[in-house]
Amino acid sequence: MSSIGIEVKPLKKPFAGSDVDFGAEISGVNVEHLNDNTFAVIRQALYEHSVVVLKNQKGLSSAAQFELTRRFDPDAKGLYSHGKSIDKRSVLHKDLTTVPSLPQVQVIGHGRVDSYEGLANLQLTHPHHRTFHKHPIPVEEDHDFTHFYRWHIDSAMYELDPPRVTSLFAARVPQGRRQTVRYDDGSGETMDVPLGTTAFISGYRMYDLLPEEDKAWVKTSHVEYAAHPYIWMSKAKARSNGLGLFTDSLELSDEQLPPVDPTKVRRYPMVWKNPETGHLALMVYPTPVRKIVRGDGTVIDDLKTVRETLYRLQRPAISPEYVYPHDWAEGDLVLFHNHGVMHSIVGAFAEGEVRLFRQCNMAASEPPMGP
Ligand SMILES: [Fe+2]
Repeated sequence: MSSIGIEVKPLKKPFAGSDVDFGAEISGVNVEHLNDNTFAVIRQALYEHSVVVLKNQKGLSSAAQFELTRRFDPDAKGLYSHGKSIDKRSVLHKDLTTVPSLPQVQVIGHGRVDSYEGLANLQLTHPHHRTFHKHPIPVEEDHDFTHFYRWHIDSAMYELDPPRVTSLFAARVPQGRRQTVRYDDGSGETMDVPLGTTAFISGYRMYDLLPEEDKAWVKTSHVEYAAHPYIWMSKAKARSNGLGLFTDSLELSDEQLPPVDPTKVRRYPMVWKNPETGHLALMVYPTPVRKIVRGDGTVIDDLKTVRETLYRLQRPAISPEYVYPHDWAEGDLVLFHNHGVMHSIVGAFAEGEVRLFRQCNMAASEPPMGP
């Protein structure tokens, strides 16, 4: 597809043998001065390709990033996906620093930054899987080997609905080093990735890989998420491939959580429909799920069974041939369809490797569309 001077082309495969079927690069766009026609091209590309990369946007302002992100959901109330403030007990508390003038934009990254976007003396920390995984990579191997941190949908999964689109802007990127992701899940699978990649997988592929009998029941089923999920799971530990949690009875009890408003508990279809293409995606954020409610009315609420069921459905789609690990360059702006792909933070930086990014999204104006 093209409009005057704008080109949309599929991304190069990340490695020989990759079977990734999503992602596109858009060139010829100046995001700082966006008009309606240009946005229409970007929007179409996003719904068709799920992940779009706009190169060479160095110097992009937070305001322009926000404006582009907001256009995907003009009826959104403009609240950041995790709301106004993040409880200090939440596992997300340490990862996010809000841009003072634009609460929908967060500064994320790693290392010391003197000043950026009205913030001074930033000490950023790239989430390290050792804080979250039950069996982290041993310290002596940490330079060369890593894990997928947590496969997720950007969302509070309580009170607020998942953003349609998230944008990520790379202001500073340490270059030159790669790491090997070990799945450490008995499969023996590994994947060579750029340092600090953001890895994406497709919910459409995840659905397409299901056996027909699973497609039939997931299409009519829902999942219910835990109340205050990031506090609820703050003591639980994740699988080494980042796909969900072990069940060791470490989740907080209702009495240990802030007051729960049952009307704020989120329940979504397991399968979400792309509003432009009609394609169906299996979109379940495994970590905060509490229950599966099948179309026939059966409720699966034993946490271990819930997690094992989801793991069986989702694991095939995170194998290396289906993962797109973005190789960040300074000035990259990446937009992704948060109702069609899941993603994970990856990797561990060494002392002195500074990474500076901005993330923007907004709680959606309505829940994701069911099949
Ligand atoms: Fe995210």
